[in-house]
Amino acid sequence: MSLLEVADLILEFGKRRSRALSNVSFTLDAGQRLGLIGESGSGKSVTALAIMGLLPDNASLSGSVSFDGHELTTLRDDEYSRLRGDRMTMVFQEPMTALDPTMKVGLQAAEVLRLHYARGKDADKYGVAQEQIVDNARERVLQMLDEVGLHDPVRVADSYVHQLSGGQRQRAMIAMALINRPDLVIFDEPTTALDVTVQARVLRLIDDELAAVGAASLFISHDLAVISQVCADVMVMYHGEIVEQGSVQQIFEAPIHPYTKGLVATARLDLVAPGERLPVIEDFLEDA
Ligand SMILES: Nc1ncnc2c1ncn2[C@@H]1O[C@H](COP(=O)(O)OP(=O)(O)OP(=O)(O)O)[C@@H](O)[C@H]1O
Ligand SMILES: [Mg+2]
Repeated sequence: MSLLEVADLILEFGKRRSRALSNVSFTLDAGQRLGLIGESGSGKSVTALAIMGLLPDNASLSGSVSFDGHELTTLRDDEYSRLRGDRMTMVFQEPMTALDPTMKVGLQAAEVLRLHYARGKDADKYGVAQEQIVDNARERVLQMLDEVGLHDPVRVADSYVHQLSGGQRQRAMIAMALINRPDLVIFDEPTTALDVTVQARVLRLIDDELAAVGAASLFISHDLAVISQVCADVMVMYHGEIVEQGSVQQIFEAPIHPYTKGLVATARLDLVAPGERLPVIEDFLEDA
């Protein structure tokens, strides 16, 4: 049994039932890192939201999402929200929308920690008593903020989200997603909003932290080079379907679907001879 088993997801939106996902199936083992790539609008984010139980009211979903043997699509809201922030967490592209603007960062992180321990489960997870963890919430938050490379954790903890830079926000978001040592972390374009040098550092951080926690990850990006820095395997999504899946190396060396061929070719622009026209994805779709 895999940690996450997604089977035959079909997702439609609105009264006109416009189709966003068709028969999406895949599995994710404990500790596995799986990339999800595809063009804009192909259905990457809605796949993540379907797994996290965060689809809007106008969505109708069929199929199955099984996490650690439990079916999630029929889970009650309160049970689902307990699972989120604890055993499965998500890091969004734009942390401004995911973080609470009215609450200081440190307090938000401590809240995530308290909600988890209030349940009294997994008290031994850190080898310390539960009461001690809650008492020491601030200490643990500062430790986590330091771990994600925020050099002045006290100042960051005492700041509001709008007082931080984009890179600092994303690090704080990653700290919060990992503070309860989840089994699964979904990243949805976590570095797209960052400039290139910050992006490289945050990717290294994600790689290190996932390894330290041993968490499995579904990592969404439209950039194969980014995925290859974090994931061993990758799925390619096109028009709401998974059209190809394999190791990052397999996909790079022998792409099969026309969209994937285009993706790989554009990721290899440095191999194009001077003066030659640069390939675009449309070149490959014409023979589809
Ligand atoms: N709340 C919604 N209501 C109606 N349609 C939606 C909603 N959210 C997403 N969709 C549709 O579902 C499809 C998939 O969207 P999704 O956001 O998953 O794309 P994506 O692959 O994440 O794209 P991007 O790379 O731009 O983030 C799109 O056609 C989109 O218009
Ligand atoms: Mg998206």
